[in-house]
Amino acid sequence: SSKKMEIVQLYVVLISLWYLAKQPSLQGTLQDSSACEGLKGLAEEQVRICQRQVEAMDSVKHGAELAIEECQHQFHNRRWNCSTLQGLQVFGKVAIQGTRESAFIHAISSAGVAFAVTRACSRGELEQCGCDRKIHGVSPEGFQWSGCSDNLSYGIAFSQAFVDNPERSRGVSSSRALMNLHNNEAGRKAILSHMKVECKCHGVSGSCEVRTCWKAMPPFRKVGNVLKEKFERATEVHPKRVGSRKLLVPKSSRFKPYTAHDLVYLVASPDFCDRDPHSGVFGTSGRQCNRTSHAMDGCELLCCGRGFRTAQAERVERCSCKFHWCCSVKCKQCHHLVEVHTCR
Ligand SMILES: *[C@@H]1O[C@H](CO)[C@@H](O)[C@H](O)[C@H]1NC(C)=O
Ligand SMILES: *[C@@H]1O[C@H](CO)[C@@H](O)[C@H](O)[C@H]1NC(C)=O
Ligand SMILES: *[C@@H]1O[C@H](CO)[C@@H](O)[C@H](O)[C@H]1NC(C)=O
Repeated sequence: SSKKMEIVQLYVVLISLWYLAKQPSLQGTLQDSSACEGLKGLAEEQVRICQRQVEAMDSVKHGAELAIEECQHQFHNRRWNCSTLQGLQVFGKVAIQGTRESAFIHAISSAGVAFAVTRACSRGELEQCGCDRKIHGVSPEGFQWSGCSDNLSYGIAFSQAFVDNPERSRGVSSSRALMNLHNNEAGRKAILSHMKVECKCHGVSGSCEVRTCWKAMPPFRKVGNVLKEKFERATEVHPKRVGSRKLLVPKSSRFKPYTAHDLVYLVASPDFCDRDPHSGVFGTSGRQCNRTSHAMDGCELLCCGRGFRTAQAERVERCSCKFHWCCSVKCKQCHHLVEVHTCR
């Protein structure tokens, strides 16, 4: 059916990223560009990009891994814990399409690819790109630019070409394509707007007579934190025809206009409470919850009011550590019981 087709297309890029993340090592499998056609899930244009830049594919894979790890870190306390990313099949069946969860996945994936490709450029691992050497000389503050700043423009352009491609080929008349493209760009902007200056001191025994500095990307954890914030404040939008173009505008005129840095979504999220394998929802039964928390990880909210079970679990820790001259520390193993609460 056409709906099935749409779901398949929507997730093609994310499936392909996920699939790449699972390959043991691409360098082994992708010695030459003919192997690109064997990669599952890639769209035609993505295969062409792969053929032109085989050695960048390891970075794409690494970017996808970063994105998945970060998504699971940011969402580990929530009902939807990013675990629909666990399997190709589950991933294709989507309760989250058009929702703010989907907005986050797109943003973090496109940021992951831009980030990993940029880092490979700076490390000299790719032929087509390198450090940004335009920033050089002595700064007004008196430090020396090292001449090897992160050059984001290549990584961003690569992410635009590779990650955005399946959406672009669907045409910008589709509201979902517009949504995904916007969120992809917002993900990349989260790196761009948090570039920082890093420095190293040179001089006798750590004195800082000479400082060399360079512009660097933020740690990827920072990008994840920024996008999680954006997720919390995401704007619900709907399509509107303006002249010959279709735009996404805030659903309510009371919402403030969104910017290129914000996440947008078209559909309210389901509650993710009950297991529904057909749409890729795990449900929260069996999840560990916090009895005293009133936040999303608290038993009340996480278990959707179904209640929870309490069990005793044994924890082993190092304790009564003693320092022995010289130089070792000996500890005992202490066993103690803790209460563990899990959702019914
Ligand atoms: C950064 O990368 C872009 C895109 O590849 C390139 O055009 C530009 O020259 C690079 N900048 C520097 C300073 O190397
Ligand atoms: C997410 O929750 C499901 C149960 O609802 C669990 O099986 C899975 O391991 C969790 N995933 C992560 C990454 O915590
Ligand atoms: C449970 O939540 C409380 C209140 O938010 C917090 O202080 C505590 O550290 C949490 N416990 C665990 C095991 O996460």
